[in-house]
Amino acid sequence: MIDNFGRKINYLRVSVTDLCNLRCSYCMPEKGIEKKEHKDIMNLEEIENIIKTAVKLGINKVRITGGEPLVRKGLVPMINNISSLDEMKELTLTTNGTLLKDYADSLKKAGLNRVNISLDTLDREKYKKITRCGNLDDVLEGIRAAKEAKLLPIKINVVLIGGFNDDEIAEFVNLTVKDEIEVRFIELMPLGEASTWPKESFISNEEVLNKVPRLISMPFKGHGTVARMYKLPDSKGKVGLISPVSSHFCNYCNRIRVTPDGKLKSCLHSSQEIDLKGANPRELERLLIEGMRGKPSRHNMGTMHSTETHRNMNEIGG
Ligand code: 5AD
Ligand code: SF4
Repeated sequence: MIDNFGRKINYLRVSVTDLCNLRCSYCMPEKGIEKKEHKDIMNLEEIENIIKTAVKLGINKVRITGGEPLVRKGLVPMINNISSLDEMKELTLTTNGTLLKDYADSLKKAGLNRVNISLDTLDREKYKKITRCGNLDDVLEGIRAAKEAKLLPIKINVVLIGGFNDDEIAEFVNLTVKDEIEVRFIELMPLGEASTWPKESFISNEEVLNKVPRLISMPFKGHGTVARMYKLPDSKGKVGLISPVSSHFCNYCNRIRVTPDGKLKSCLHSSQEIDLKGANPRELERLLIEGMRGKPSRHNMGTMHSTETHRNMNEIGG
């Protein structure tokens, strides 16, 4: 499907729950969120139908996100059902990694291709602090389990936070020396909880290049690319810089999103949403076409230090 600005839309991100077993301070309020009523959240069959319809309309990459997708019961069988669709080229999952040790094998067997694991610090105390309750060892075990299950290549997502983890940049980059992993630094976006954080917390990805000048730039791939890629000389892995704030990639954006309550968001930063819940198959197809075609041309987060959306990341899917 080609949208009104000539972009090919082939990537769907589906958030299967807004619940999470962690409480990262930029993402969730400390007390957690109120559990939505059952009727307001899509059941897995509805989610599966949306994915199948979207795949018919030209989506060939699907990412399952949350909240924490692995807290949703019944996820593995649903992954099994969608992984076998002929047109599906890439089926991936974004997770905080804490439950991966229990799920990596069955996810691989169900046809999941690979995982992105969110990890903002390599320090036990800091991990506990930022997640408000998490245990770093669970994630490290999860990464190991994903590697053993061959959910490859593993990508580690690090949200850069000024005064919190900018002193760990070199350490994160060094993880790519011996392992075929991709470490991706993501600029903190002024969304939800983080929208009221002091400006010192928001640092540009340029800081990664300042701290590790040995990084070599790799060729830019264009369409659907959100990361500028780098590597250390002779390293097995790569480093990605994802800069939604300092340099938006709207021109190359190929994605749409669906929230756990069944709203289609064709741009992360727009408040424009299309309700898919309860739609019959014909309506569903029509609404998906409408959302994909009508994707806004760009967002203005960099200039406004704000975003239109009032949702927290756990309600949209990271
Ligand atoms: N800015 C950037 N990334 C965020 N995430 C959550 N909130 C934000 C934010 N304000 C990321 C998480 C995880 C994924 C779910 O989204 O760290 O990688
Ligand atoms: Fe959970 Fe991810 Fe939000 Fe942290 S950032 S609270 S792991 S959804």
